[in-house]
Amino acid sequence: MIVAIDGASGTGKSTVSKLLAQQFKLSYIDTGAIYRSVALVVQEKKIELNDEKRLSSLCLSLPLRFEFVDGVNRVFLDKRDISEDIRVPEMSMLASKVSALPVVRASLLDMQRRLAKINKNGAILDGRDIGTVVFPNADIKIYLTASNQVRAERRYLELRSKGMDVDPKTILEQTIQRDKQDSERAIAPLKKAADAIEIDTDGLNIEQVKQKVADIITQRG
Ligand code: DC
Repeated sequence: MIVAIDGASGTGKSTVSKLLAQQFKLSYIDTGAIYRSVALVVQEKKIELNDEKRLSSLCLSLPLRFEFVDGVNRVFLDKRDISEDIRVPEMSMLASKVSALPVVRASLLDMQRRLAKINKNGAILDGRDIGTVVFPNADIKIYLTASNQVRAERRYLELRSKGMDVDPKTILEQTIQRDKQDSERAIAPLKKAADAIEIDTDGLNIEQVKQKVADIITQRG
């Protein structure tokens, strides 16, 4: 079973996906973390965004691993745990930029499809183009939405809880800018698949969103 959960940042995709993956014994593929990892290497190795050759070889040989450590989904690049490094606001912005490059998207497609096939029960993938491009035939497609204000607030609280000193106004501006970039790019933009079920998460807590999606999986799965 393939469950595609798409939506803008701060709609609760990753939290809900993790919980559902545990409940339904599916693997969880955080595709945003893949783009964030590419962004991290691009920054550290000072790869130019117009250097298609280096970008493609980086994406095709990215030694990325997801591992549950003490119930938390950690991201490893080879042996290095990059879970925290990829979550800083700067990396969110660079991931959004890097993910608009056709060579990056094309080179990461196979990896996402491969990762989703590892568990025989199936996978939940969250991202922007899972239901439209990566798995257009997914068994279940969910599209989460929330207002800008609510999304920025969730993101702000998440970063604060990790001890980061962030400014709410800057987070709101970055949230709006990132989603504009993600929805307006030419290739695989953030958009609802025609057959996706839309859930407006304003005013709902994580448990309520999770329950709504769990009910859909149980009915259809
Ligand atoms: O979900 P996230 O915030 O971790 O994603 C970081 C960036 O990666 C996001 O701004 C756009 C990009 N992304 C994408 O283009 N396609 C995906 N399927 C997932 C993420």
